[in-house]
Amino acid sequence: MVLERTFIAIKPDGVQRGLVGEIICRFESKGFTLVGLKLVQVSRELAEQHYGVHRERPFFSGLVEFIISAPLVAMVWEGDGVVASARKIIGATNPLTAEPGTIRGDFGVNIGRNLIHGSDAIETANSEIALWFLDEELVSWQPSLSGWIRE
Ligand code: RTP
Ligand code: MG
Repeated sequence: MVLERTFIAIKPDGVQRGLVGEIICRFESKGFTLVGLKLVQVSRELAEQHYGVHRERPFFSGLVEFIISAPLVAMVWEGDGVVASARKIIGATNPLTAEPGTIRGDFGVNIGRNLIHGSDAIETANSEIALWFLDEELVSWQPSLSGWIRE
């Protein structure tokens, strides 16, 4: 398989609730590799750009206010099929219908407080990574355990 990268953000509710370690643990334990990580107080401009596809939706302004209301953890994770797999680890958009075992299913109850963002496709992942990270903020490295995770 070809290694992919995806953009993951722990939203302000996940940071405020002290779930950063728990959420990072889910991706580490799965066998994905962390290649970028930073705590960000997001500007309105960046939040609007990131969720630009939802600009006309009724929840857009509330979503932007929420994203800029407190710090967020921005990350890039690498691995085989990581874009689609991360979406499964995250769970359905509405935490009430998200399966138990997913991050949203285990920790959330409200669609506007669903803890985490993950890119929805490879092309989206590439553009979101470029929006949130400079090239020099991403580190290419091979974990010494990788032979025990990938054939
Ligand atoms: P995300 O982009 O944050 O990873 O979430 P998603 O793909 O699962 O869902 P998406 O349709 O892209 O929606 C983006 C975020 O907008 C909020 N939302 N609120 N009130 C509502 O009906 C509503 N619908 C969406 C959620 O916070 C969702 O994660
Ligand atoms: Mg989305």
